[in-house]
Amino acid sequence: MRSAVLFGILCLLTNVANADPIRPDQIAPRGAPSAVTLAGQDEPGERVVVFGKAVNGNTQAPLPGVSVFVFHADKEGLYSRDGKNDSHNPRIRGAIRSATDGSYRFDTTRPGSYRNNPAHIHYIVTADGFKDRMFEVIFADEPFLDDRTRKISAEDPEDHYPIVPVTRDKKGVWHATYDIKLYPQ
Ligand SMILES: [Fe+2]
Repeated sequence: MRSAVLFGILCLLTNVANADPIRPDQIAPRGAPSAVTLAGQDEPGERVVVFGKAVNGNTQAPLPGVSVFVFHADKEGLYSRDGKNDSHNPRIRGAIRSATDGSYRFDTTRPGSYRNNPAHIHYIVTADGFKDRMFEVIFADEPFLDDRTRKISAEDPEDHYPIVPVTRDKKGVWHATYDIKLYPQ
C-alpha cells in the first residue's frame, strides 16, 4: 500500500502508478546490448549519459544479464506524440541487458517535466531469481525537486525515487551514475 501511495506522487501516467504487471515487451531480449541510445542526436534537448551496475543488494556482487527497460518523457514532457501522451507506449525507450560485469549504459536526452513534477527516467528491472524493481531516477538538479520529494526519496527503503547527481562535461553532455540493487526472491 505504501508503495502505491508513493508511486502516485510523481508519475500519474504510467503503469508504475497502477502497479500493472510487467509486460513482456518491457523485458529486454536475452541478447540485448548493455549500452543503448534511447534518443537519437536529432531529438531536441540536452544530452545525458547514464551509467551504472546491477548488483546483488546483499553481497554487492555484479549481476550480468539483468533486464533494464528504461523510458522517459521528451523535452516537452510528453511520452508519445500520437495525441494520447501514452506512457504505456513511450516514444523514447530502450531495452538493455547488463554486461558480464553488471554494467549498463544509455545515452539519451534529459527528460522534460510534466504536471510540475521533477523530470524522471523510468526503470523496470527484472532478473531471474531476483525481485522485480520499478523506480524513477530523478536528477538532483531538477527544478521541480522539492523538499517533500527529497524526504520521500530519503525515507523510502525500496528506493522508488532515487535522486542522482549529474555533472556536465566540456561538451555540454550530462553524466549520471546509478547502481541498481536487486534482492533475491
Ligand atoms: Fe513518468
